[in-house]
Amino acid sequence: MRFKNNYIDKTKEFVLNNKLSYYIDTMGCSMNENDSSKYAGILETMGFIKSIDEESSNLILLNTCSIRENAENTLFGRLGALKNKKNTYIIVVGCMTEQKHILEKIKKSYSYVNIVLGTHSMQTFPEKIYNMLINKEKYIEYFDKEDIVLENVPIKFEDKNKASVSIIYGCNNFCTYCIVPYVRGRERSRLKEDIISDVKDLANKGYKEINLLGQNVNTYGKDLNNGTKFSDLLKEIEKIDGIDIIKFMSPHPKDFTDELIEVIANSKKISKQIHLPLQSGSSKILNLMNRKYTKESYLELVNKIKIKCKDVVFSTDIIVGFPYETEEDFLETLDVVNNVKFDQIFMYIYSKRIGTKAASMEDFTKTEEKVNRLQRLKELFKNITFENNENMLEKEYLILVEGKSKNNESYYTGRTNTNKIVIFEAKNEDIGKIKKVKIIKNNLWYLTGKII
Ligand code: 5AD
Ligand code: SF4
Repeated sequence: MRFKNNYIDKTKEFVLNNKLSYYIDTMGCSMNENDSSKYAGILETMGFIKSIDEESSNLILLNTCSIRENAENTLFGRLGALKNKKNTYIIVVGCMTEQKHILEKIKKSYSYVNIVLGTHSMQTFPEKIYNMLINKEKYIEYFDKEDIVLENVPIKFEDKNKASVSIIYGCNNFCTYCIVPYVRGRERSRLKEDIISDVKDLANKGYKEINLLGQNVNTYGKDLNNGTKFSDLLKEIEKIDGIDIIKFMSPHPKDFTDELIEVIANSKKISKQIHLPLQSGSSKILNLMNRKYTKESYLELVNKIKIKCKDVVFSTDIIVGFPYETEEDFLETLDVVNNVKFDQIFMYIYSKRIGTKAASMEDFTKTEEKVNRLQRLKELFKNITFENNENMLEKEYLILVEGKSKNNESYYTGRTNTNKIVIFEAKNEDIGKIKKVKIIKNNLWYLTGKII
């Protein structure tokens, strides 16, 4: 489905005359960040200007996440705080709006919200804005249609060098802890030609790095039933001049094919950091999570990738305290972490999500025990990070100079092709260029380097 502009033109005069500004607050994952860039693109095409802060904006859009309970609490906290903000349109979008009980709560307790729009409804956004501004209408309804792939949406990225491109929407995996398949629907791949055209367009605009997004990128193409595969898509993107760095997230270990490994091994542009969500190191827990791999097959895959793809490092997601996780199961997770020596770990305490299969599993582990497991995982990761960093000293990396360091004014910052943050002395004109940097100091959570 192609994005339609008719309500954009109808609304523009009103927006420009009233000099309306917008502010977007994004919670959650890179998919949500990509959606927010689209909402920003649409609003700017309608004439809205980006506000410097929330306080002075006329329209606040909250893009929500429902992956864990604390993400949900964030929204209600934010909405509560906005209660007394006068003359402001408030819009709620994203994963939380796909759950009926959330919608009811917004209707009942936060009646000042103007629009609630689900993850499948972006095409109606301009119309809803038009009705809100011109006809003073509210829209807080549940929209149930999920098989939409929307093309040609205006998009506005925060960064000048890095952009993201969604390649597949939804998820079919139903990991038992996860709400995503319920709020984002079934897998829908975009056509290869549409993706390639977007990436070429971004390259022409000067973007150097692209991040290909999907809940399960390596099943990209399966639903198109025309033989399109993720590995083929990567090969084509590799050929696009101007793009120097290609990233993707997240691949599912169960769908990581030999062909994909081959493409990564032969690529000059694909990031050397591969995100491979582990979730747990215990085969018993992985089975309860419906992950469809075991501890052994995960480690086998890691070794296969390491052998074929020189210099790769791994990042991962881990959940501790899943129902029935014992101390022995947790030790299996630590064992995998020790074995793979992950460069980055996103770690979470299991959060029960209404409607998922795991929500009906009995959970005997006390919260303090779960917190203790998370703490031990953090400690191990800290030691591994120090070790990994030591191995990088004196080595040289090609780094895209992203801008001034936020914490240290006299330094600039960038990331290695293994995604490690490095700060170094540079000049303003180096921003957006790729420089060769030697690592000279290990500061644990970042490295110091020197342009050579
Ligand atoms: N509880 C805790 N973590 C979760 N994740 C997904 N669902 C849950 C949940 N219910 C984590 C997984 C996933 C990451 C994006 O969020 O590790 O890979
Ligand atoms: Fe959730 Fe599993 Fe799908 Fe990832 S693969 S979005 S964890 S159901």
